[in-house]
Amino acid sequence: MKRIILAGSLAAVALLSCTPKASTAASPVLAVSTAEQIAQGKTIFENSCGRCHKLPDPAKHTPVQWVGIMNSMAPKAKLTDEQHQWVYDYVVSVKK
Ligand code: HEC
Repeated sequence: MKRIILAGSLAAVALLSCTPKASTAASPVLAVSTAEQIAQGKTIFENSCGRCHKLPDPAKHTPVQWVGIMNSMAPKAKLTDEQHQWVYDYVVSVKK
């Protein structure tokens, strides 16, 4: 469990570092996602990601697929960079 979360965070950091906004991201503490952030991500996911379609099943996509999905869906859901990462951390933390 812990390893999965850590891997997800690293992928999210890699993802964020590919976007021009990365250097202005509000939180410098991107490398560690706490249980609290994952819980926040879950809440944001449940509130924001079921508006246009059925709430997706986090276990249906791999972490790599989620990078691409979140890149196209986070702007649709008007997420901040932090919320984008928390939602990502949440979906990849869900056990397959
Ligand atoms: C403003 C409307 C809107 C919101 C909000 C939205 N989506 Fe979507 N989503 C779409 C549309 C339209 C599609 C289908 C077309 C496409 O893939 O762009 C889609 C498709 C998807 C798919 C299927 C992609 C695939 O490759 O099978 C997933 C998964 C998904 N959204 C996840 C999310 C998540 C997670 C969030 C919250 C961060 C979210 N969506 C918020 C409109 C939205």
